[in-house]
Amino acid sequence: ATVRVDASPGLARKIPDTLFGVFFEEINHAGAGGIWAELVSNRGFEAGGPNTPSNIHPWSIIGDDSSIVVATDRSSCFRRNIIALRMEVLCNDCRAGGVGIYNPGFWGMNIEDGKTYNLVMYVKSPETAYLTVSLTSSDGSQNLASVNITVAGTSNWTKLVQKLVANGTNRTSRLQITTNKKGVIWFDQVSLMPADTYKGHGFRTDLTSMLLDLKPRFLRFPGGCFVEGEWLRNAFRWRESIGPWEERPGHFGDVWHYWTDDGLGYYEYLQLSEDLSAAPVWVFNNGISHHDEVDTSIIAPFVKDVLDSLEFAKGSSNSTWGSVRAAMGHPEPFPLKYVANGNEDCGKKHYRGNYLKFYNAIREAYPDIQMISNCDGSSRPLDHPADLFDFHVYTDSKTLFSMRNTFDRTPREGPKTIKLWFLTVNIFVNMIRAQAFVSEYAVWQSDAGKGSLLASLAEAAFLTGLERNSDIVQMASYAPLFVNNNDRKWNPDAIVFNSWQHYGTPSYWMQTLFRESSGATVHPLTINSRYSGSLAASAITWQDSGNISFLRVKIVNFGSHAVRVRISTTGLEASVNELGSTVTVLTSGNVMDENSFSHPKKVVPVKRQLPDAAENMQVQLAPHSLTCFDLTL
Ligand code: AHR
Repeated sequence: ATVRVDASPGLARKIPDTLFGVFFEEINHAGAGGIWAELVSNRGFEAGGPNTPSNIHPWSIIGDDSSIVVATDRSSCFRRNIIALRMEVLCNDCRAGGVGIYNPGFWGMNIEDGKTYNLVMYVKSPETAYLTVSLTSSDGSQNLASVNITVAGTSNWTKLVQKLVANGTNRTSRLQITTNKKGVIWFDQVSLMPADTYKGHGFRTDLTSMLLDLKPRFLRFPGGCFVEGEWLRNAFRWRESIGPWEERPGHFGDVWHYWTDDGLGYYEYLQLSEDLSAAPVWVFNNGISHHDEVDTSIIAPFVKDVLDSLEFAKGSSNSTWGSVRAAMGHPEPFPLKYVANGNEDCGKKHYRGNYLKFYNAIREAYPDIQMISNCDGSSRPLDHPADLFDFHVYTDSKTLFSMRNTFDRTPREGPKTIKLWFLTVNIFVNMIRAQAFVSEYAVWQSDAGKGSLLASLAEAAFLTGLERNSDIVQMASYAPLFVNNNDRKWNPDAIVFNSWQHYGTPSYWMQTLFRESSGATVHPLTINSRYSGSLAASAITWQDSGNISFLRVKIVNFGSHAVRVRISTTGLEASVNELGSTVTVLTSGNVMDENSFSHPKKVVPVKRQLPDAAENMQVQLAPHSLTCFDLTL
């Protein structure tokens, strides 16, 4: 087989700086119990709903009916999350260890020896109360940290702040609050955060570093279906997710079926984008859920709501919403340049009508914002104005492998500019050529296992097609990004974690071989081989942080035989230097091999020197492999 690369400058094209990024959805407990480091689940006791009595899950009671009575009531000092917990202790000198309540967090809290945990909680007690707050093993038998707190008797709520330093490690710990004295005490907004979060911004450091290693150029958030909701009443509402964490009402995400306290809110998503040096892509709800829609004739308040969200992100700190952002600690505006008008809603009754209302209002207020439509423009132009269109694909490995050519067929011709004719109330829009945003792609179902090598190879082939077509494809992200192993709502995912461990699936590692492509230069490449039906390849030139230039040729061998290939490059402006040239291979003994907590690095890229690097070189591709040749120039 021969792979010919023509690196002549005249045929080279710059890949958009934004090509590869990440899509973060609050799915699989990716945020709550995931990258958001809060250890307490249902910290405000709101998850059971606003009526009482309510379910306080996963809080539980220490003691029995004769010693303690626990109930929710509506006596919180926080207007938007009015539920608090009332605990009445009936005993003096209660059982050893006292009676009280405990919270196991999200399938157990990861408490580590020597680390500090910041506790904040709100309490109210008419009489002086004596509390012990501890971190213990899941059955309470091992004490990892403990502090005694005296709460002065008053009819007002008091905010208590304490540091707990662990004297042991336990991966499935719980937080417990106990007492030995008779009396009544109320609790609300109980938070326990590890002191060391990424940049002190509340993000779990290990999971954040997995994202940093992808060098994502954008962060699409917060969904996905999470944005839509099964019903609009349960959709993500940015306004309810900002401001002091204690005052956020939280909400039940009815698509993925779990409660989020919304500690990871709109502001935190923008902050995470900044921390990753990734452009934020805000997917807003445009009045459409899975089962209900807002009629276009009454969509105006929703449009205003989204304009406010843009002012929150982009407005000066003197503006109404920009000042709220500034008060939260970010006086500088966030560079929000992309918004998606809904998620997967193109076919819905009111999509186009609502879309245009949002589009026109945003275009007028923020001409710099790029707008993303949910309608697929990959095979024909859109009938409405948009800068980008969403393209989602979840399919089997053979189909995705074959889709490496999908965007070859996307029409390039046609007007770029928008012509609008206002006919009384009707707007006629010319056919529009927008850029593609492959905002969700993955191999799924049986080919994927829980993240197989096979899936990652088909995805890699698909991505070589996106690189080649990056004149029309501006952005791409794998989905979903994260899964907490205890709540696998969607399979497969790029990063798997529990309270203390994590690993990347082969699809994650595959993406690390594409991270240098954003902003690089792509070159034409041809494959001549009897195996060409099972080979996919791309060629880029790029520079590392030390300004050393490389030619990178990536080849996917999707077949089950090793293939000998001659890579022949012409048109390079500098010659190939063996020194520093490398080859990196992602493969494994079995195409269905996966990583796991016990074997997190079973299928990962393996890099070695390439002493025979040259413009013309003979190489061997392993069966079922992605091979990345980096030739120093
Ligand atoms: O990525 C999982 C889901 O797939 C997303 O929420 C949705 O956009 C798509 O259907």
